[in-house]
Amino acid sequence: MNDECPYQFNLMDPERMSHGIPFEDLATLRSQCPVSRQDATEHSGEFWALTRREEIDFVSKNPGLFSSSINMAHPHPAGDDPAEQEIMRRLIINMDPPDHNQYRKVVRNAFTLRAVDALEPMMRERAREIIDKIAARGRCEFASEVAAEMPLFVICALMEMPSEKRKEFSDLVDVMIGMDDPELNVSSEDGQLAAARLFEIAMGLAAEHKTNPREGTVLDALLNGVVEGEALDEFEFCAFFLILIAGGIETTRTATSQGMRLLIEHPEQLQLLVDDPSLIPGAVEEILRYHPSFNYMQRTATRDVTVGDKQVKKGDILRMYYPSANHEQSVFGPDSEAFDVTRAQRMPELKSEHRTFGIGQHFCLGSHLARKELTVMFEEMIPRLRNPRLLGEHRQLVSNFISGVKEMYIEFDAEAAGED
Ligand code: HEM
Repeated sequence: MNDECPYQFNLMDPERMSHGIPFEDLATLRSQCPVSRQDATEHSGEFWALTRREEIDFVSKNPGLFSSSINMAHPHPAGDDPAEQEIMRRLIINMDPPDHNQYRKVVRNAFTLRAVDALEPMMRERAREIIDKIAARGRCEFASEVAAEMPLFVICALMEMPSEKRKEFSDLVDVMIGMDDPELNVSSEDGQLAAARLFEIAMGLAAEHKTNPREGTVLDALLNGVVEGEALDEFEFCAFFLILIAGGIETTRTATSQGMRLLIEHPEQLQLLVDDPSLIPGAVEEILRYHPSFNYMQRTATRDVTVGDKQVKKGDILRMYYPSANHEQSVFGPDSEAFDVTRAQRMPELKSEHRTFGIGQHFCLGSHLARKELTVMFEEMIPRLRNPRLLGEHRQLVSNFISGVKEMYIEFDAEAAGED
């Protein structure tokens, strides 16, 4: 150990992290020891906690020095089973160059801004239906009745999931997402069975597309390629389907629920959006900055290397704490710890300053899609769910990785019949 940092915060304790992001602890690490060796605990081996943007950028942008593959980029439910670990390594997020570059080229072409923009009318219609179901009631369990709906709908639309399969799909996704939370009582066998069934569903979608191809769709771009005819093979396609679920659903649900919670807890900020809805896209960016869905992604050093003022050894794990980088005063100014929906007005480059979607080679492929989903949802919710209030404490997933919301009861002024 060559770290003099006296601060050992239990950042890997899932129970502790489920009570909210420990912004104060992260601020202490950031100012006192931004590259800090954290001791082994019952929840994790030793690791380096990176809490400043400079080092997070350095690590993210040097995949040759810091591997996403060796110990993967995320905590992995596959446990120690080498066969399953091998499958996890075939997910794009866990690939290193040169495989990663090759694979990313194909999937990147499927997720262009244009492809995402084309989905907007459908998203808006869906958002209205979601709100229609609860508006007259004046209360709801926000996480399942509202936040969960849009990302699921979007992935089904992208993957051309037939409507009769959507319910099974949504149940399987819940099993996969709940795997780490002891309260949800999902065994690792259940999780593996769900993943296997999702693989089968993906193969069915690919087979259906082959017999009945529709040009210009995301599925077509993935399976048939749009640049130099490069496409994914069957296994790669199924692996991509799994990462869309793991990376695209819980993250956007989380941002919707945490965003709503932040607006309820800061009524003066919510009022600004009620008075001027044109501020909503900027407010979404502030929600993303203030409360990133992922607490961290991780890398493994491929050789001895200096990070900040520390000597990191080959094989060491480094965890990049995005919520910390997003609250850095030197980047966001003296009010960096404040939630301010007008921040984007005075900081037009806000989008590229925060690290909620990562940075470098693995930068989130779904960032346009997530922003669009969130903007549409908040644009549709804010005028209709008036004076929202929290009914008790919200409950989070027990996870050290994602700050997902399990339950959040809210009430609001009920909409009279015929009003909207
Ligand atoms: C608020 C929502 C989201 C957040 C906070 C988020 C965050 C992230 C982060 C931090 C990474 C970087 C991983 C790393 O550097 O190791 C990432 C990668 C990725 N995300 Fe997202 N994501 C979101 C939504 C989505 C959506 C909607 C999709 C797709 C439908 C998606 C698909 C992906 C994929 C495929 C990667 C891997 C890219 C690669 O390895 O090259 N994400 N995401």
